[in-house]
Amino acid sequence: MIYAGNFKTNHTRASTASYILALNSAIEGKKKDRVVIFPPISALDSFDISFTIGVQNAYPTQKGAFTGEIGVEQLDEFGIKTILIGHSERREILKETQDKVVEKFNFFKSLGFEIFYCIGEPLSVREMGEGKVKEYLLSQFDGIDIAYDKLIVAYEPIWAIGTGRSASVEDIRSIHQFLKSHIDKPLLYGGSVNPSNIGEIGSIDGVDGVLVGSASLKVESFLELMGSRDE
Ligand code: PGA
Repeated sequence: MIYAGNFKTNHTRASTASYILALNSAIEGKKKDRVVIFPPISALDSFDISFTIGVQNAYPTQKGAFTGEIGVEQLDEFGIKTILIGHSERREILKETQDKVVEKFNFFKSLGFEIFYCIGEPLSVREMGEGKVKEYLLSQFDGIDIAYDKLIVAYEPIWAIGTGRSASVEDIRSIHQFLKSHIDKPLLYGGSVNPSNIGEIGSIDGVDGVLVGSASLKVESFLELMGSRDE
């Protein structure tokens, strides 16, 4: 299983550092699972740990005049080689188009970054039925090299993100099966995953891991989530 925690715009530099050290000492030597944490950009640092730190976003540039953004030069300072691309909050709130997402994908792919690529439908599409959901999800791969060897896909229905309402086991199974028939890559589910539902979500065929927002913010909760899956 892959357990990825996305802090979004939560945690400070100080609280991230203590979280990461606590997480590291709790899982060191014990876990065969893969763990990745995406802290806010201001908290990036070089940590002596056994899991991966990724960046939630970056601009497709080495450096330059892109006010408010960071590029590869800033990531290299901390040895960051993992990035989240296509998260629905960037697509919806920050208005990142598929073209921009593709530009980022190609740029970071050319540098050999591991890419967690997020897709997911809004409620309006879900309400049109599963056929439309599938069509919509496939369109989010337009321009994306699905054969890229360092690609990990995360399916996150937008209506399930941060709402406390995860998709049903049946919905997840069906969409994951569908995606797996098109894309032969690790496939995570995201959207209100928590310590209580990880048992059933984690055991669905075709779920290779989870991308967790809210329930990753407290280290105790993230550890409980990882532990509950093992039981
Ligand atoms: P959530 O967020 O776990 O708070 O629903 C998931 C995500 O956006 O990756």
